[in-house]
Amino acid sequence: MPDKIKIGYVGIGRYLPENVLTNADLEKIVDTSDEWIIKRTGIQTRRIMGQGESVSSMAISAAKSAIEHSGIDAEQISCMRVGVNTHLRFPSVAAIVQDALGIEDVSASDIAAGCSGFIFSVEDVYNRLMTEWMLYGKKSYGIAMGVDGLSMVTDWTNRSTCVLFGDGAGAVVIGPVEAGEILATHTKTEGKYANLLELDEFLSVPLEDTKKMTFRHRNNTNYPFLTMAGPKVFAVAVRSMVSEVRTVIKKYNQANGANITESDIDYVFPHQANLRIVSAVRDALKLTPDRIFSDGVKKYGNTSAASIPIGYVDQRGKRPGALEVDVSFGSGFASGAILRRVAP
Ligand code: COA
Repeated sequence: MPDKIKIGYVGIGRYLPENVLTNADLEKIVDTSDEWIIKRTGIQTRRIMGQGESVSSMAISAAKSAIEHSGIDAEQISCMRVGVNTHLRFPSVAAIVQDALGIEDVSASDIAAGCSGFIFSVEDVYNRLMTEWMLYGKKSYGIAMGVDGLSMVTDWTNRSTCVLFGDGAGAVVIGPVEAGEILATHTKTEGKYANLLELDEFLSVPLEDTKKMTFRHRNNTNYPFLTMAGPKVFAVAVRSMVSEVRTVIKKYNQANGANITESDIDYVFPHQANLRIVSAVRDALKLTPDRIFSDGVKKYGNTSAASIPIGYVDQRGKRPGALEVDVSFGSGFASGAILRRVAP
């Protein structure tokens, strides 16, 4: 690849609902305690969508904030991918965001890859911008997003799952850079683990089969819940995140004749599923606590596809020139990683 082709992040943004749900609030809903939740998950608070907020409204706000941060004109955007699992309707979130931004001639679509949707989106946007540049000589910008409203599919009577999740959206503008580029990406899906974390399909199942499904009742309509085999998810999550970090480094090394090792990584942004998972990944990669992001899960819970870009905003501007890895896993089981250099 010619040296001059460099594509990286040029803007980041997010949206978090105002409404804060604390562990004390959850103690009133299910048989749980602040102590149990903190010990087993590290989560202290999460944001839950309120009146007038939706997956697409959060996505629009995050996209606008990332574009503003980038300083580019929205018209320069040629593609948009939105990692999302809870937009249980159509048209896509991407189409709604495109319309709200008032931009045209954009390839915009959603990606369903569990909590790894943001990584899949970045990979897709990056590959597309790279292809357009290399094949057609066209330099342009794209937006990759992660957004989810898991509160809509959470069973608020199930203490094993309802303490874990929050809502939110994050976005990055990606485009040509002088420095601070994406170095390698990797994504992978292991469908054999799909039933460990799933949301029943509902509109398409024959009526007689719906009795087997888990529902919540809302507005006189039956909606399905998310179900999860927590301890099994835990084990697969740690293994796949560690493997993704090693794979993306190896991929970069092989393509560039480089010799980067895990100890060269300055900072890791893991999907914020649970503090114990983050700690297990940190230990497996022999990272000190200051080299891995863990504040997101404490403050916002598991925001699914949004968790990594939400964390970027917390850490904005902190490590110029650093070598960073983003890594995620989620329903599917879909996992992925990005190796990138932060702009100096
Ligand atoms: N408060 C109090 N007790 C709870 C509880 C809660 N919120 N949730 C579960 N428990 C209880 C269980 O009922 C069980 O009780 P029992 O022994 O009397 O049956 C006990 O705690 C242990 O349950 P278990 O599910 O084995 O706990 P755990 O230590 O594995 O922790 C998770 C549960 C969900 C926190 C943990 O499995 C996990 O983090 N899994 C990964 C989940 C995840 O990140 N998913 C998202 C993927 S993107």
